[in-house]
Amino acid sequence: MSWRPPGALDVFTQVMNSTSPVNTDFFSDLEPQAYRKLPTSPVPLDMARVDELIAAEWKRFTTGTFGSNEEFQRSLASMPMGVPSSFQHWDPYPIAIASAEGAWMTDVDGRKLLDLSMGFGAMLAGHLNPVVVEEATNALKTGTLFVTPSPISRDAAERMCKRFDIDQIRFANSGTEATMYASRLAKAYTGRDGMVKLEGGYHGSYDPMTVSAKPKLEYAGDPEEPTPVIPAGSNAGEIYVVPFNNLPSLEKLFKAHGSTIACIIMEPVMENLAIVLPDAGYLAAVRALCDEYGIILIFDEVKTGLTAGPHGAAARIGVKPDLITLAKSIGGGLPLAAFGGKKEIMSAIADGRFDHFGTFNANPLAMAGVRAMDRICTPDALAHAEALNRQALDRIMEIIEQHNLPAHTVGFGVKGCITWSSTPVRNYRDYKATDFKVAELAWLWSLNRGIVTPPGLDEQWLISLAHGQEEIDKLVEDFRELAEALRA
Ligand SMILES: Cc1ncc(COP(=O)(O)O)c(C=O)c1O
Repeated sequence: MSWRPPGALDVFTQVMNSTSPVNTDFFSDLEPQAYRKLPTSPVPLDMARVDELIAAEWKRFTTGTFGSNEEFQRSLASMPMGVPSSFQHWDPYPIAIASAEGAWMTDVDGRKLLDLSMGFGAMLAGHLNPVVVEEATNALKTGTLFVTPSPISRDAAERMCKRFDIDQIRFANSGTEATMYASRLAKAYTGRDGMVKLEGGYHGSYDPMTVSAKPKLEYAGDPEEPTPVIPAGSNAGEIYVVPFNNLPSLEKLFKAHGSTIACIIMEPVMENLAIVLPDAGYLAAVRALCDEYGIILIFDEVKTGLTAGPHGAAARIGVKPDLITLAKSIGGGLPLAAFGGKKEIMSAIADGRFDHFGTFNANPLAMAGVRAMDRICTPDALAHAEALNRQALDRIMEIIEQHNLPAHTVGFGVKGCITWSSTPVRNYRDYKATDFKVAELAWLWSLNRGIVTPPGLDEQWLISLAHGQEEIDKLVEDFRELAEALRA
C-alpha cells in the first residue's frame, strides 16, 4: 500500500481538457461535460436469484468481519447507533477502519480495501496526500488557531475566490454550516423569509434543509407540486419544495410566492441521489427565473466542488449562481467549508445586516488544506482522474450491454455511478423507482471483495488523484463478476 501521485498520461483512454472554455453543447447534448449511457436492450433480472445472492453475501460479510463487529458492539455503549454520524451505520454493523493511505484503507480485521467512497468525495486528494501532510505539518509548527486575522486566511481566501470565480468568501467548518449561512445571508439580504429547495436534495442538517431530503413517498404528495415533508424537531420556516428538472413547477411557484422567496438552494448536479444530471437548458432557465423574481440562486457545491473540475460545477456547466457553498474536497481531507459569491450580497455581512461568526473559521490547519489543494488540483491532475473515471464508466457500460442488465452509468467530473434503471433518472421520484435491492447487492458484493463504496446507495464513487489503472481494473472486473453471477 503506497501513495501514488498522478502518473503518466498513457492510461488515458480519452484526454479530457477540463480547462477548455465552457461547452454550451452541454445543454443540447450532455457530452462531454457529463456522462450518461443507457442500455440498448435491457432484460429484467431474476429477482429470486438476486435474493439468493444477497443472502449469500450477508453470510459472507458476517463471517469475515469479526473485528468490525467487536468494535461496533463496544461503540454502541458510547454513541447512538454505534457511529459518529448516522450515515455511517448499516445493519448488522459497519466496517471499522484502522488506517488509510492513497486509495486504500485497512480495516480492523487487517483487510486491505480499495476506497471508492473516499470520505463521500472529501478525499479527492487521496488519503495522506504528501502535499496535504506537508502543508498541515507546517501549520502544526506555526500554530493551529489564532482567532484573529492572519496572512494565512487572507491567502486562502484569495486562492478560493480566484479558483471559484467569486468576489468574496467566508470560511466555515462543515457543509451544514455553509448552507445554513448562505441561506440565512440570502434572507437577510433580500429581507424575505421564504426558501425553495429541490425534492430529495440533501444540504446538511440546518432545519429548513432537512425538509423533503429523501422523504417517504407516502407523505410526499404530487410529483409536480411536492408536499414539503418536515422531519420531527425541524423548525423549517417558509419553505417550498419543487422537483428537479421541472421548470413549469418552479415558474408556477415563483409566480405565486416569488415576492416572499429569498433564495433557492440546489446542487447543480444532484449528487445525493447517485448522480442526477440537469436537463438541457434547465440550470440556465432557473438562473433566468431567479433574475426575473429577484431570488438568490445558491449552488450547493459541497459535493461537486473540485470533483467537478478545477473551478467547480458552475464553471464547468456555464451557469453562475449568486452564492456558492463548498466543503468536502476543498480541504484536502481536513474539516473545511465555505460560502461566498457576489460582493453585493456578501456586503450584508460587512454592513451588519447579517452576522457570521465561528471560533474555528479559517483556522490555520484548515487553511493548510486550501494551500495544498491549490498545489494538487491542477487541471492536468483532475483531467487524468477524470479520464480514468470515464474509462471505468465505459468499460462497465460494456459489461451492462453484454449481459443486457437493466442498468446504466452516469458520471460527472471524477465521480461515477451505476444506476439500476433502464431509463434516465431526472428527479427524486425517478430515483425512488430504481431497483434498490440490486443496488444493495452490488454494494455488498464489492464490499465482500475488498471495495468500499458509500453505504447509502444514493452516493457515487470518486476516482481520486491517488487512484490509478490497477484500481480501475479492480472496480471493473469486480462488476464483471457480479454481472456474471446475476445472469448465472
Ligand atoms: C450537497 C451537500 N450539502 C451539504 C452537506 C452537508 O455537509 P457536512 O456533512 O459537511 O455538514 C452535504 C453532506 O453530504 C452535501 O452532500
